[in-house]
Order: sequence, then C-alpha cells, then structure tokens
Amino acid sequence: MISLSTLSDSLRFVATATRHPLKMGAVLPSGHYLVTAMAAQIDLREPGPVIELGSGTGAITDALIKHGIDQRRLILIESHQSFYDDLQKRFPDARCFCDDAYDIETLAKQNFFPKAAAIVSGLPLRTQSLKRKRAFIESALRLLRPGAPLIQFSYGLSPPVEEHQIDATLIAAETVWKNIPPARIWVYKASEHSG
Ligand SMILES: C[S@@+](CC[C@H](N)C(=O)[O-])C[C@H]1O[C@@H](n2cnc3c(N)ncnc32)[C@H](O)[C@@H]1O
Repeated sequence: MISLSTLSDSLRFVATATRHPLKMGAVLPSGHYLVTAMAAQIDLREPGPVIELGSGTGAITDALIKHGIDQRRLILIESHQSFYDDLQKRFPDARCFCDDAYDIETLAKQNFFPKAAAIVSGLPLRTQSLKRKRAFIESALRLLRPGAPLIQFSYGLSPPVEEHQIDATLIAAETVWKNIPPARIWVYKASEHSG
C-alpha cells in the first residue's frame, strides 16, 4: 500500500516535471526497486561522505539511509529551491546545498568535501550534450576515493556516456525492470592509470 507521504511526493514531482521537463528528466520519482538497487551498490565499509546529486523528493536519499548510511555522511545537492527546502527539513543531519550539481567540483572545493565513498546521481544526463556529460563524470570521479563508484541511472538501455568516449571504467550494474519505466544502473569508476 502506497503511503500518504509517497503519494504527496509523487504529486509534487509530477507538478514540477510538468513545468520543468528538461530539468526533471522523469515524470515520477524513482521507484522502490530502483532506489534500493542503487543504494546496494555502495560498500558500507568505505569511509567518507556519500554525495547525492539531484535528490528531488528524497527517494534515493531514503534508500541510502535504509541501506545503512548515517544521515550525517550525506551531502545532498539539488537545484530546485522547493525540493531543497524540503530536503533540509526532512534530512536535518545531512549537508544540503541548493546548487548546480554539474559544477560539483567548485562546490566541493569551496566547502572542503573530503574524498567521497560514493556519488549517487539522479541527474537527467540524457538532456545534456556529450561534452557536458563527460566533463561532469570526469569531475565527479576526481572527488571520489580510489576505486569508489559514481552511480547513475538512466532510462533506456544505453549508458549516458559510453566507455570508449571517456577515460573511465563503466559497468552496467543492473537493469531494474520493475521500475516505471524500466531503468538501468551504471557505475563509473576512475580508470586505474588516472589520478
Ligand atoms: C530525475 S529527477 C530525480 C529525483 C530523485 N533523485 C529520484 O530519483 O526520484 C532529477 C532531479 O535532479 C534535479 N536537478 C536537475 N538539474 C540539476 C542540477 N543542475 N543540479 C542539481 N540538481 C538538478 C531536479 O530538480 C530533480 O530533482
């Protein structure tokens, strides 16, 4: 049975997606199976913060906490003001930023982020140019501890950036058929010779 808060989050998401389709890149928040599978990619033994980009109504954030990540380890970056305001209220122990996640490196430098255990992204990369997507993935990988993952989902079968288009290792981690629409989880890691 769907809870009232999930229903209200979904309605807010749909309303915002109708007004800003390119920024949202989805019509519904990520579903239970998708967010659980994304969180499961994170190794709880790895120290450092877990950074979430494009947190929206907090569907992935909830799954990260359920997976066992302490809220105090979370850094949430969301550009939409009203989603950001709610994230701050709902996750008071996380560090929240209302900012452009594509410029994550500047934000990390200005706010002294330690190297991260994982970066989880719900950003709608498909609406971005290849140049911007590559720059984003490369800058995110520079903020991670060695071997740590950038976890990104996409709708459709192809990755946001193919492995041959970027100096990184790409793993197709899981296809979540039960999400609406079905989604694929991609894991980018810095290639061993970089950094
Ligand atoms: C596809 S929704 C994902 C929301 C949530 N993580 C989920 O999985 O349900 C994309 C989210 O990214 C946010 N977003 C889009 N562009 C952004 C940017 N440049 N910086 C930060 N957040 C952004 C949108 O406001 C929206 O909340």
